[in-house]
Amino acid sequence: MKIFKNKIDLIAYVDTLKSEKKTLGFVPTMGALHQGHASLIIKGLDQNDYVAVSVFVNPTQFDNQEDLVKYPRTLDSDVELLSTISEERIIVYAPTVDDIYGDNVISTSFSYDGLEHEMEGRFRDGHFDGVGTIVKRLFEIVRPNKAYFGEKDFQQLMIVKKLVEKHNMPVKVVGCKIHRAKDGLAMSSRNARLKEAYREAAPFIFKTLKIAKEKFGTKSANKVTEWVIKQFAKHDLLTLEYFIIADIKTLKTVSRKSNQKSYRAFIAVYADDIRLIDNIALN
Ligand code: PAF
Repeated sequence: MKIFKNKIDLIAYVDTLKSEKKTLGFVPTMGALHQGHASLIIKGLDQNDYVAVSVFVNPTQFDNQEDLVKYPRTLDSDVELLSTISEERIIVYAPTVDDIYGDNVISTSFSYDGLEHEMEGRFRDGHFDGVGTIVKRLFEIVRPNKAYFGEKDFQQLMIVKKLVEKHNMPVKVVGCKIHRAKDGLAMSSRNARLKEAYREAAPFIFKTLKIAKEKFGTKSANKVTEWVIKQFAKHDLLTLEYFIIADIKTLKTVSRKSNQKSYRAFIAVYADDIRLIDNIALN
């Protein structure tokens, strides 16, 4: 497997692939790879000749320094997992902070037509400027035909689509279904940091989302939201940060349901000091 630590070498290699008319898929990650990432990479390999996987814990998208410091960094086991998927058709780009940012570790400010002010944007200051900065830079370096993002970070997926549209970037952004553990917990690199009791408690999040979906069939968004808030208030280990039912196009919280619109429920929960997010399509 080809592993690049600096962009100059990667750019030269991608130039060769392009001159051979090979297609390139791209899965940007922050490492600590799991089966959720594997499913994106496998989809990328189905649709392209090669798939580039970036492994980079991007400092500018963390609003919480402790979260950045504690974020798992496991390049060796990441490469091991990737080699079980394909030795020949996966390219790894694992740059240093310097390779990406030089000595200017700051993000650019982006407008995503308001998508950035909802949900995660309200609770994680500057997060989507950091995401936009790194994704744009990676797209410019890797120059993929298609890029794959999981629906677990649904707002990020929408924002990346908006970024590509606004900057006329020649890449197709492909959204992929949430990959879940057998007990329903959405796969996330952060799950590895959950202490046993919290890991056992965490499937409550998806269980509650599924009941919320059922209730949304007959009840108003406000009633469903009140019900979810009550369930978490009674829970000993999990602390609800937000539960929001939103229009999937604008990501604005719904006040009155319309049959013409599609909605999703979005949730952020603290399990100890670990923040977990999830979402479910409602109609
Ligand atoms: O979803 C992630 O892991 C990150 O936000 C991404 C897209 C790799 C950018 O750092």
